[in-house]
Amino acid sequence: MSIKIENLSYSYRLPSGEKVDALRGVSCDIAAGSFVGIMGPTGSGKTTLIQLLAGLRAPTSGRIYLNGEDINAKGYDKSSLRQVVGVVFQVPEYQLFATTVEKDVAFGLKYSGLSPREVTARVQWALETMGFDFAKIRHQSPLALSGGEKRRVAIAGVIVTKPQILIFDEPIAGLDPYGRESFLQFATEMNQAGTTIIMVSHNMEALAEYTKQLLVLAQGRLIDYGPTREVFVTLNQRRKAVFGQSKAQRIAAMLAERKPDLSSTVVTYADLLSALKQELGGGDLG
Ligand SMILES: Nc1ncnc2c1ncn2[C@@H]1O[C@H](COP(=O)(O)OP(=O)(O)OP(=O)(O)O)[C@@H](O)[C@H]1O
Ligand SMILES: [Mg+2]
Repeated sequence: MSIKIENLSYSYRLPSGEKVDALRGVSCDIAAGSFVGIMGPTGSGKTTLIQLLAGLRAPTSGRIYLNGEDINAKGYDKSSLRQVVGVVFQVPEYQLFATTVEKDVAFGLKYSGLSPREVTARVQWALETMGFDFAKIRHQSPLALSGGEKRRVAIAGVIVTKPQILIFDEPIAGLDPYGRESFLQFATEMNQAGTTIIMVSHNMEALAEYTKQLLVLAQGRLIDYGPTREVFVTLNQRRKAVFGQSKAQRIAAMLAERKPDLSSTVVTYADLLSALKQELGGGDLG
């Protein structure tokens, strides 16, 4: 399912009547099966973009097409959008409301037409995918879980409908290293299975190591979009101070103080390793 964003703008209106331009003329195409990272400073419009993609806000101007269909056109079936686009918000705890974890996760399947037995099987799949023991967790209250567990339940409640596009707003903020790693592994597996992943993150490592495309916002404008490595290299050359670097980039920069020809295209740890192997003898170190 391809996404086309065309000259998209969004302005909030404050109670005072003042206008806040959160997105300004953003255009880009996201091919089916992409794994797109969205980065940008606080307030650059990332969450607003996601809300528009999920159809939760209508653009002030511009259009969003899913497989060629304008999702804000009159007559477009917004409820079908929910089956196709799954969103896990920045504070997913707010997405939990039922009395048990099982009911919470099953909610998205209410109008799916699946039989009760199929619903249970699907809920079990979603919770197990998120690393839970189904028998243990199903009757618990979502409110009694830890922050990280709540987030995993919220994600289960979104993937349960098997949406073709999965959008995450800051999914790994506040997770421990194990939780981060397993989330990123999970996102990669979903992507390999064909799901389009869109992930907002401030974590440079996660963006560098896991995403395939990177979309960069600053003050509501799209300032770069392309293959992750290329975008990292460009940002490193031009706007390092604003966007920072991945750790592999930082290590490469430190080494380059002594060895100026060390590749400036190092972005990931794998890049760093192969640049070092090259340095040590033509890459035949094994
Ligand atoms: N409900 C709202 N009412 C008014 N202005 C808003 C509202 N939500 C966001 N804004 C403003 O719109 C701009 C973009 O906000 P947005 O939440 O999209 O940024 P963000 O990139 O997600 O930031 P962060 O990294 O902090 O999550 C900011 O200037 C913000 O103050
Ligand atoms: Mg945000």
